Amino acid sequence: MDHSGHKTTAWACALAIAMIGLGAAPGFGAAPDVPAPVALRCEYLANPMGVDTARPRFSWQLEWPGRGEHPTAYEVLVAASPAALASNRGDVWDSGKAGSADNSQIEYNGAPLESGRTYYWKVRVWNPAGTASDYSAPARFDMGLLARGDWKAEWIGGGGELRAGFTIPAKIERARAYVTALGYYELHVNGRRIGHKVLDPAPTTYSKRVLYSVYDVTRALREGANAAGVMLGGGWATLGHAPQFAAFYPAPAALVQLEVEMEGGQRMTVASGATWKASDGPIVSDSIYDGEVYDARRETPGWDTPSFDDSAWRAARTMEGSNGERSPETMPAIEAVGELAPKSISSPDPGVYVYDFGQNVSGWARLRVRGPRGTTVTLRYSELVYPDGRINRENLRGAKSRDVYTLRGGGGERYQPRFTYHGFRYVELSGLPEAPALDTLRAIVVHSAVGTTGGFAASKPILNDIQRVIGWSQLTNLFGIPTDCDQRDERQGWMGDAQVTAEESMDNFDMAAFDTNFIRDIRDAQGGDGSLTDTVPLRYGGRPSDPAWGTAYPELCWQMWRHYGDRRILEQNYDGLKKYIAFLGTQAKGDVLSYFHYGDWVPIVRTPPEFVSALYYLHDVTTLGAVASVLGKDSDAEAYAKLAQRIRAAVQQKFFDPATGGYAGGTQTANAMAIAMGVPDAHQRGIAASNLMNDIVYYHDTHVTTGFIGVRYLFPVLTELGRSDLAYELATQTTYPSWGYMIDNGATTLWELWQRKTGPSMNSQDHAMFGSVGAWFYEALGGIGIGADGAGYRHIRIAPHPADDLRWVTASLESPRGLVLCSWTRSPGKIVLTATVPPGADAEIAVPRDLEMTSFTVTESGRAVWRNGQFVPGDQGLRGAKVHDDAVVFDAASGAYRFTLTGE
Ligand code: BGC
Repeated sequence: MDHSGHKTTAWACALAIAMIGLGAAPGFGAAPDVPAPVALRCEYLANPMGVDTARPRFSWQLEWPGRGEHPTAYEVLVAASPAALASNRGDVWDSGKAGSADNSQIEYNGAPLESGRTYYWKVRVWNPAGTASDYSAPARFDMGLLARGDWKAEWIGGGGELRAGFTIPAKIERARAYVTALGYYELHVNGRRIGHKVLDPAPTTYSKRVLYSVYDVTRALREGANAAGVMLGGGWATLGHAPQFAAFYPAPAALVQLEVEMEGGQRMTVASGATWKASDGPIVSDSIYDGEVYDARRETPGWDTPSFDDSAWRAARTMEGSNGERSPETMPAIEAVGELAPKSISSPDPGVYVYDFGQNVSGWARLRVRGPRGTTVTLRYSELVYPDGRINRENLRGAKSRDVYTLRGGGGERYQPRFTYHGFRYVELSGLPEAPALDTLRAIVVHSAVGTTGGFAASKPILNDIQRVIGWSQLTNLFGIPTDCDQRDERQGWMGDAQVTAEESMDNFDMAAFDTNFIRDIRDAQGGDGSLTDTVPLRYGGRPSDPAWGTAYPELCWQMWRHYGDRRILEQNYDGLKKYIAFLGTQAKGDVLSYFHYGDWVPIVRTPPEFVSALYYLHDVTTLGAVASVLGKDSDAEAYAKLAQRIRAAVQQKFFDPATGGYAGGTQTANAMAIAMGVPDAHQRGIAASNLMNDIVYYHDTHVTTGFIGVRYLFPVLTELGRSDLAYELATQTTYPSWGYMIDNGATTLWELWQRKTGPSMNSQDHAMFGSVGAWFYEALGGIGIGADGAGYRHIRIAPHPADDLRWVTASLESPRGLVLCSWTRSPGKIVLTATVPPGADAEIAVPRDLEMTSFTVTESGRAVWRNGQFVPGDQGLRGAKVHDDAVVFDAASGAYRFTLTGE
């Protein structure tokens, strides 16, 4: 249940998660004890360091496998000390026995939480019989520095290494470091690197906000002489690109503050300022795009220890820095999450060695080398190789993407860069004094360390390949913000890419904290006129965003509500969303919004971009109406519903061609979007649907022609139209254009283009956005969906669509309530479906049948539950059933079920 340990290396075996068997399912009441809650989270994180909301939210999970189990009450205790908590005293907050079936989004409601303090908490719950569980194991959270006045530190720079020595006069009880940079930093205390974050902090609109990290340095510090230091790199803050975007800051700066609490109540603050010392350090240059140049001869060993003599160092420079808000970084950090050994090594030229890691990754290579002092080794990264084995870097555009290391000499040396990252499968190594070995290089995989929470596997191998490639593409494009790509001179928070992958990413990974942060980033980028930007933070594209990009704001908010039940996101962003819609309204003419920059990007058949914009206006207004309903803002909801109706009518009028029955030229994107957004009435919908089928089957031999916007809608629409079989054919195609075509041509991450391109054009080999089809894998093939009004998986819909030659599928995901699983196998005349519904949730479980079957029965764990056209009551947890289309749909309480449908 604890995802904090799930890392990239775990992604490769994530499918195994889907295979988790069903635990024993004792009937309700059979177990004498009520198992205590597990997997405690605060603001979506395990024991977060740095929380700054006045009312943090708690969640936990219940491993209650029985049928119909649900909690009826909880009690949360929050204490100022572990001792108070151990004696069951919530001296800061005791929620009392709160009657509720909820296990997430539980708001703290006690005394004001104090800046910089650690709080300890635990929870117990009651079952319907009124029996209380034990308390959970304790968890904790650290508050950030809540007031600007708590910050004593000044921004400093002036060198690649900055340090200060200081004396702590008494025994240390507790110490924290609060650190950020305009750029990247690495914190050192007393000769040790602190924490495992890399490339920190995540990028933000620095003028509005910087994210700081909180480290527990209690054990790193000691009574007596100490030293603290940072290595400093440029990161995003100092990276510009001509001509449009200048660097945010001319030089990097760091902000460091240590708060030390000593025995007897003494306190001490160590803060960066003019008394700190600076030196160049070994990093000669660093740039996200171009890589790092490191000269080990320039190292000053011991620079971060108290005994180091820094009298030759210059004074650090105090800098203006950013005056924006300072917020704790409350999302999974960017980390080195795993490493890969090379698959092969070749030497296309004398002294030049090319390592193939067999997988396109984000990160860097770690070098092990031995040689004379002053030897310079160069590592150049690429996603592609030429037929002769030389690396092909044409698609990196302006990014130099290389690391250069000069040896200090005299023994074995290890090097990996700190302040850059690359997207690569191949690394070219040159400049070595002798031929390298396979273990000279390792690929270090780096990205935001979100937990893997979903698994999908199927009997059709190509689906598993696509699922694997989607996972890699998604993870390697999470760097504190969701990026478009990880290799060329871009790597931006392109909003269009983020919005189409919102659901896929939430199915596969724990995105709650990450997306909460990104939504705030979007709000920071919003203009006074309500407009949004194509990239967040803005450094590419422009303002206002293409409507299909700006839609990331409503879409991410809405998916946070659907997937995680996050009502606070809706509340916090309601005004921002309203402003955005109002802005779009000012741009629309006669309810049709038509300005655009990109439209359905990278398609095979182009859809008029103004149509895409018009549909996104409708999408966003509809979404905002739904948000208003959730928040009980009924008159707003009504007004947006009316506006949506007007937009539909205007779109229908302007873009529907009654002669052909298609929208906007009848492209797949146009018809799918129109149907998805409810533009046609029932009659017109039928016409548009056959127009769509014809286009797919007859005009394009069952291939997609959409760009990355349209493809997001094509699959769910086909399923809605009862044509999952066709969607399945599209998804499993292996000829151009298709996901299978990419994979058959060696893709280990998704391409930016359907076409196979290896030249200097825009053709990244690692874009996540075509991975949106992954959401359809879970929902249609795996059958796991969110029921109506079922935000946070309170109501679940399990309805797999066994298509064509699929024999089995297993899908699972960790919902806020616990594991949701659907696994089915099929043989002639028989389907077996196992499902897990977590405690506190209920589900409609649709057990599919072949339409040709004239008679069929359903058993659950061997007991008849549907016979002679009727529900057979008596099975614990099943409350009823009906035949619906091509399935028998059971109304089920929580628990694990095993249905077998047989018929002829
Ligand atoms: C990016 C895309 C992005 C697009 C905007 C490209 O350069 O890589 O993924 O959404 O620009 O059209």
